[in-house]
Amino acid sequence: MSDSFRFPEGFLWGAATSAYQIEGSPLADGAGASIWHRFSHTPGLTLNGDTGDSACDHYRRYESDVALMAEIGLSSYRFSIAWGRVMPTGRGPANAKGIDFYSRLVDTLLAHGISPNVTLYHWDLPAALDDQGGWLNRDIAGWFADYATLMFNALGDRVPMWSTINEPWVVSDGGYLYGVLAPGHRNLFEAPIASHNLLRSHGAAVQAFRASNAATRSSIGIVVNLEPKYAASNSPEDLAATARADAYMNRQYLDPVFLGRYPEEMKEIFGEAWPEWPQDDMTLIAQPIDFLGVNYYKRSISRHDPETLPMRVSGVHQPDSVHTDLQWEVYAPALTDVLLWIKARYGDLPLYVTENGAAFPDPPTSVEGQVKDPLRVEYLRAHLHAISDAMQQGVDLRGYFVWSLLDNFEWSHGFSPRFGIVHVDYETQDRTIKSSGRYYAEVARSNGSILAE
Ligand code: FCB
Repeated sequence: MSDSFRFPEGFLWGAATSAYQIEGSPLADGAGASIWHRFSHTPGLTLNGDTGDSACDHYRRYESDVALMAEIGLSSYRFSIAWGRVMPTGRGPANAKGIDFYSRLVDTLLAHGISPNVTLYHWDLPAALDDQGGWLNRDIAGWFADYATLMFNALGDRVPMWSTINEPWVVSDGGYLYGVLAPGHRNLFEAPIASHNLLRSHGAAVQAFRASNAATRSSIGIVVNLEPKYAASNSPEDLAATARADAYMNRQYLDPVFLGRYPEEMKEIFGEAWPEWPQDDMTLIAQPIDFLGVNYYKRSISRHDPETLPMRVSGVHQPDSVHTDLQWEVYAPALTDVLLWIKARYGDLPLYVTENGAAFPDPPTSVEGQVKDPLRVEYLRAHLHAISDAMQQGVDLRGYFVWSLLDNFEWSHGFSPRFGIVHVDYETQDRTIKSSGRYYAEVARSNGSILAE
């Protein structure tokens, strides 16, 4: 970061969470079960049989959690709405108590000067919709738009930033191709259909947004997780493998949204499982959006590997790098690269880093009530430098959200990986701001200028 660089006034210093990962009380006040409730309650599918039944008990502790955000000095908070809390069967009658929870959360944030950033779908599909095919049913675009409209009407007067879907790639890859995430299917033919219906649902919700009053004062976008792919060598096989990996994970979602078409490599990857889609669908998906949210965790070095189907690509381990608890390589420069790549390929649009963070095995809370997590502090510092490098090269980045505010339920890994800048003791539900949280507070307070020191 050069000495002259300054983060713009109004840059958002945020933190992110998602509903099922922190709320607990998944069936309270008339909420309908989600696919994650079912998945985590199926023996053997999550580490140690962990479930989101209690999680961080945020559903009942949201007020003190917002006070904690204010203590850290966050200017924005990204959270998701559990569709089944506000529409228990996913369609039809709304549940006033569920809506009221999110309404109170929004009011509490605003009272503390924290700007709400709402994600409509962060993986917890109402189970009743899964019974009707879930993301495989084309009708879901209409169901999602109806649910989105309900929320635009309920909160649109107070929420300036909306995202439709969080990480469609993970939903399709983990949920429908490899079965490691809810709803746990393993089916090559379903994965492209799920992806396509996620994108159609995104487009339908953007249309619904434009037709609602929320559009006059708020903005809407989508959140994707991007993993820059670098070729292990310049051999034609490795270069082609890298292009497939990039198409599958990154361009499969961004090309339809911004260019109205899928990457050519999709057919090569999925073969007969790749359908031809009607042009009308592509038009629906390519609705203009106001911003793009980027979740960045790691890069990948790709090589040709005929054994790994269907992609025929594998990642090359980097023995000299630091790896997190989930064995994700720490490599901050790829965050700069990916932000520059978006600008070059899709044009100049407002971007947010909507998630970035690391799971490290934190030491227990010390007697002085401190959790020292130097690896996470260093991770944040390096990635904040990476975003400032991208901004100095002209990327229109408007905010950064650390994943995560709290240690939480990390999906099939359960509670063992800890991503929080705030430690959660799951026995007592005590929260302790970690060293990384204190560091991030300084970053926010100085609007990033401590990075130059
Ligand atoms: C992202 C998810 C988020 C969390 C982090 C670690 O893919 O959006 O819920 O699991 O990874």
